[in-house]
Amino acid sequence: MAEKAKAPNGKLGVMIVGLGAVSTTFITGVLMTRKGLAKPVGSMTQYDKIRVGRGADKKYLKYKDIVPLADLNDIEFAAWDVYPANAYESAINAEVLKEKDIEPVKDELVKIVPLKAAFDKNYAKRLEGDNVKDAKTRWDMVEQIREDIRKFKEETGVERVVVLWAASTEVYVPVNEKVHYKLEDLEKAMKDDDRENIAPSMCYAYAALKEGAPFIMGAPNTTVDIPAMWELAEQTKMPIAGKDFKTGQTLVKSGFAPIIGTRCLGLNGWFSTNILGNRDGLVLDEPANFRTKEVSKLSTLESILVPEDQPDLYGHGNDEDTQYYHKVRINYYPPRNDNKEGWDNIDIFGWMNYPMQIKINFLCRDSILAAPLCLDLVLLSDLAARAGRYGTQRFLSFFLKSPQHDYTEDEVPVNHLFQQYVMLKNAIREMGGYEADEEID
Ligand SMILES: NC(=O)c1ccc[n+]([C@@H]2O[C@H](COP(=O)([O-])OP(=O)(O)OC[C@H]3O[C@@H](n4cnc5c(N)ncnc54)[C@H](O)[C@@H]3O)[C@@H](O)[C@H]2O)c1
Repeated sequence: MAEKAKAPNGKLGVMIVGLGAVSTTFITGVLMTRKGLAKPVGSMTQYDKIRVGRGADKKYLKYKDIVPLADLNDIEFAAWDVYPANAYESAINAEVLKEKDIEPVKDELVKIVPLKAAFDKNYAKRLEGDNVKDAKTRWDMVEQIREDIRKFKEETGVERVVVLWAASTEVYVPVNEKVHYKLEDLEKAMKDDDRENIAPSMCYAYAALKEGAPFIMGAPNTTVDIPAMWELAEQTKMPIAGKDFKTGQTLVKSGFAPIIGTRCLGLNGWFSTNILGNRDGLVLDEPANFRTKEVSKLSTLESILVPEDQPDLYGHGNDEDTQYYHKVRINYYPPRNDNKEGWDNIDIFGWMNYPMQIKINFLCRDSILAAPLCLDLVLLSDLAARAGRYGTQRFLSFFLKSPQHDYTEDEVPVNHLFQQYVMLKNAIREMGGYEADEEID
C-alpha cells in the first residue's frame, strides 16, 4: 500500500512566480479567509468530503480529517515578478477584487514585495518591467533563484517550500530530444546558456527541485513536462505537476464532453472562443504565446471523445475527414479585463445522424476560478512530498488542463473530469492510510 503522509512540522512557504491577477487573488483570499472575512469557495481541500471505509465503517470526511494538510494559518508567501509592484498594488491594479476585499489585509500584502524575476523578454515580448535579475547565463539564473529560496527559508523559518508558476505564458518551446530528454543534457544547455531551448521557467523549476521544493506549472509551458525534469524530480524525490490551471472553458469541456461520450451521441464539431482583457490576455495576443495555450487547450477533448474508439460517433468532420472539427480561439479585448466571456458551440448528432446544437455561454472570472486551484495544488503537492510521492502527480490532473503524462511511452493522459476526480479521491485515501477503492474504467 502507498505511504501515509507525515504530519507537517512547521510553516509552509509558498513562493509564486508572477505576482499578477491570479497570484494576488489567491494570496488575498487566503489572508482574508485567515481573518474570517472571506470564504475559500471552490477549493476542494477546504470543502470537499470524501468517503473512506465501506459498509458500516463508511464515513464522509473533509480532506483535513483524512490527511495532514498544512493549515492556512501556517502559510508564508513570497513572489517573483518582472514589475516591482508589491502584492497590494498589484491586487489593486488587477481589478479582480473590490477594494473592500483587499484593504483589510493591506498590511500583509504590502510586505510581499516581488523578488527580481528570472526573465528573458524573448519569452514574453509584451512585458516591459525592469525588476529583473542580471543573469549572465541560464545557469546563473538557476543559482540566483536557488539563493532566493534559501534566503526566504532562512528569513521566515519555514520548514518546507512549494514553488508555483502563476506567471505569464511563455512562448512555445518545442521539446528537443537533444536538450530536454536527459538531465545531463539539460544541465549542459543551461551552462552553455542555450537561450532558445531553456526557458526562464525551466530555471525556476530546476532551482525549486534542487532546493527540495515541489514545482507546479500553472501555465501551459512545457517546463516540467520534459523527461529531463522527470529525471530531476526522481533524483530529488520531489513532486511536480502541470500544466495549465483548468479554470473556465476547459473545465466546462472536460465536464461536458463526458455527457456526449457517455450517452453515445456523435460529435461533428466543437468551437470554443472567448474574450478577455487582462495582462494574461495581452500576452496571449502574441501568436507565439498563444500557440503554447492552444496546444494545451486542444488536448482535452481528443482523449475523452476518441475517434479511433468510436469511428461512427467521432470519426468525421474535420479537414482530413478523420475526426470532428475542434477549434479554440482566445481574443484580447481590454474592456472585459479579468471577466472572461467564453462561447462554446457544439455540433452533435443523434439517432440516424440527425444534427443538434448545444451553446454554452460562460461569463466567468478568470482569477476567481484560478485562485482555489492555486491553493489546492500547493497544499496537495506539499502533502504528496510528505507522503514520499515524487515525479509527475497524476492525481492533480483534476486541476489541470493538459495533464502531464509520459509521452515517450505513449501514455494517454486522463482528461475526463470525473475519472480525474476518482484519481484525486484515491490519492487522498492512500495518503490518509486508507485503501484506494474506486476503479477508473
Ligand atoms: N486565470 C485563469 O483562469 C488561468 C487559467 C489557466 C492558466 N492561467 C495562467 O496563469 C498565469 C497567470 O495569469 P494572470 O492572469 O495572473 O496573468 P498576469 O499577467 O496578471 O500575471 C502574470 C505575472 O507574471 C509576471 N511574469 C512574467 N514572466 C515572469 C518571469 N519569468 N518571472 C517572474 N514573473 C514573471 C508578469 O510580469 C505578470 O505580473 C498565466 O500564464 C495564465 O495563462 C490562468
